[in-house]
Amino acid sequence: MPNNRTYSMVKPHAVADNHVGGILKMIEEGGFRIVALKKTQLTAAQAGKFYEVHAERPFYGELCQMMSEGPIVAMILEKENAVADFRALIGSTDPAEAAEGTVRKAYAKSKGENAVHGSDSDENAAIESAFFFSGLERY
Ligand code: TYD
Repeated sequence: MPNNRTYSMVKPHAVADNHVGGILKMIEEGGFRIVALKKTQLTAAQAGKFYEVHAERPFYGELCQMMSEGPIVAMILEKENAVADFRALIGSTDPAEAAEGTVRKAYAKSKGENAVHGSDSDENAAIESAFFFSGLERY
């Protein structure tokens, strides 16, 4: 995975509330190109695997439940400095701390229901992209 790509997904609450279009618009206007895109739904076990790094955290059970309660929109995004720039575009984990103009400021409801995921490193971007997409699905 080159360092000009990152992995993101629109979380179930934001898909259920019909915010996919608004979020994709912010992403594209933020200078990101969509390399791969699909709507799918995780099982609780798959959500548990995806967020395995948080297994010991108190919010893990709730997080896995929330991430599997409805469809998500998964995507691979491309832009120079993608991982850092995308985390800047989405804003802080807690919407109360998210800056004006960020995706989470616009669409997050709480620390858990915070609208979007964004990889935190190039290494995790590669792992997370491979979790959702085969090589044939990336352009
Ligand atoms: P984290 O990797 O810390 O945040 P980010 O998504 O900004 O990289 O946490 C992963 C997800 O776990 C986060 O998006 C929502 C959930 N979460 C909670 O539900 N409660 C919390 O207190 C934290 C820190 C995270």
